[in-house]
Amino acid sequence: GTTLGTSAAERGRYFGTAVAANKLNDGVYTTILNREFNSVTAENEMKWDATEPNRGQFNFTNGDRILNHARQQGMSVRGHALLWHSQQPGWAQGLEGSTLRSAMMNHVTQVATHYRGQIHSWDVVNEAFADGTSGARRDSNLQRTGNDWIEAAFRAARAADPNARLCYNDYNTDGINAKSTAIYNMVRDFRARGVPIDCVGFQSHLTNSVPGDYQANLQRFADLGVDVQITELDISGSNQANVYSTVTRACLAVARCTGITVWGIRDSDSWRTGQNPLLFDASGNKKPAYTAVLNALNEG
Ligand code: G3I
Repeated sequence: GTTLGTSAAERGRYFGTAVAANKLNDGVYTTILNREFNSVTAENEMKWDATEPNRGQFNFTNGDRILNHARQQGMSVRGHALLWHSQQPGWAQGLEGSTLRSAMMNHVTQVATHYRGQIHSWDVVNEAFADGTSGARRDSNLQRTGNDWIEAAFRAARAADPNARLCYNDYNTDGINAKSTAIYNMVRDFRARGVPIDCVGFQSHLTNSVPGDYQANLQRFADLGVDVQITELDISGSNQANVYSTVTRACLAVARCTGITVWGIRDSDSWRTGQNPLLFDASGNKKPAYTAVLNALNEG
């Protein structure tokens, strides 16, 4: 293929990007988006603060803009994210206990129902595990409603949109480490008990290198019977092109690695200000990292 999307499709994968609704009027941005990508993730527009700014009052305006753009272009959509400790509306931050749990489950149900049938994969729960070596859950208002909040969220999402793939998504899980192993154990437990989980997202916000066991880590999750996806890829540093190539090859080497999403189009679109971690420069020109990914997709 001659684009990221067509080349990935030839390998049975998608190649996606995070999209910001307020950039869809930018001609340079949409030209690259429409040419190169066949999957999108809303960078912020489907999060809790955006979709339910007041309790029980939903606003899907900007999420729908991204979804409609994707549908017009024949792109699939990753939903991001139903429950996350960050980017909660103020009203939810002030709740606790059974009141918060009810609000969480209502949020999952309402958002997944609104987008029912239109989302390829949902990040049902995002970043629920702590960094470091504890293997513990991250403390948050969500976690304090009870350890079963994650499985309750997956069950609610399945009931609302039975055809979406339901994912757990996190960062610093790129190699085999205490955090990724804790998530691995949760996924194994969920599969054993019939909790509906279909996929695990590896954000892969990387700095100049990738753990040597990256592919092995993807594979051990795939061996649990879930798909794996690279969901927020961006890579800073002088070894950028090589690392992009290594990550792309790792996904292609794992049969259940179904797609790669980069977390923005141009360096100037990135949340990592000044780090230039993406595949296109601020003017929209292809960088060496772009060519490295395209070549990796077209190998083999
Ligand atoms: O839209 C408002 C604008 O009106 C206001 O003037 C401005 C002032 O700060 O803020 C704007 O909102 C910002 C929003 O991005 C849109 O640009 C928020 O402050 C800012 O916090 C928000 O950052 C997002 C971040 O998640 C929030 O945690 C990034 O765009 C987004 O890329 C980032 O994405 C996360 C994933 O969802 C989960 N994994 C990590 C990843 C990177 O942090």
